[in-house]
Amino acid sequence: MKLILLGAPGAGKGTQAKLIANHFGIPHISTGDIFRTNIKNGTELGIKAKEYMDKGALVPDELTVDLVLDTLSSPECSGGYVLDGFPRTINQAEALDAALAKKGDAIDSVIDIEVDDEAIIERMSGRRVCPACGASFHVVNIPPAKEGICDACGAQLIIRKDDEPETVKARLATYHKQTQPLIGYYTERGKNVRIDGMQDMESVFDQIKEKLAK
Ligand code: AP5
Ligand code: MG
Repeated sequence: MKLILLGAPGAGKGTQAKLIANHFGIPHISTGDIFRTNIKNGTELGIKAKEYMDKGALVPDELTVDLVLDTLSSPECSGGYVLDGFPRTINQAEALDAALAKKGDAIDSVIDIEVDDEAIIERMSGRRVCPACGASFHVVNIPPAKEGICDACGAQLIIRKDDEPETVKARLATYHKQTQPLIGYYTERGKNVRIDGMQDMESVFDQIKEKLAK
């Protein structure tokens, strides 16, 4: 099963990708997480990516495409994967399609999680993430059992740097301009599966399972 999760920043891609990965036993590949790990480790890629991420802009395709294609060619991905946050431009989608086609392969479905801009802003302002294990919470919608502490590993939760209000606005604008056109791209190819992301986490996941079963 080869899946893509599409949706605005804060639509719940990471939340649903983790559920999908667990349920189907496939790896979860998040380009955002890969970049954040590189930033934390101070790598050359991390230093370059940070410059764009802090502004709410996309990291250039030259730094993104090969990184993902390399990851997908690893043995762990041979049984499928769920891509979270890639592709994000038509150029990235075309590069992915071409690389898969070379191997006689293709993406199975693109799960497009639709959430209003207003709800997006509310979700990102309340998001808390675990710097140790990557788990994600929301102070109201998906609170941890103990305030400020990760349920999974007990580390202190933090606010993501790009969740500052001004950066969120920039990320949303970037999404509408550069990523939203992918909905048309995958609809034309019969791959787009629309999901109502305005419901709670479990209901969104139920919709995804139901639509994938078809
Ligand atoms: P990335 O890390 O992918 O960020 P994003 O797309 O902006 O999305 P988020 O991770 O903010 O949100 P999400 O959709 O995962 O939502 P979540 O599940 O956390 O990318 C970061 C940056 O890296 C980009 O801005 C870009 O610069 C760069 N980058 C990454 N990939 C790139 C690429 N391919 N090309 C170029 N640049 C790239 O949920 C959000 C909140 O809502 C949480 O608090 C959660 O608990 C809560 N929540 C989730 N579901 C629900 C629900 N159903 N109801 C209520 N609350 C919910
Ligand atoms: Mg995410």
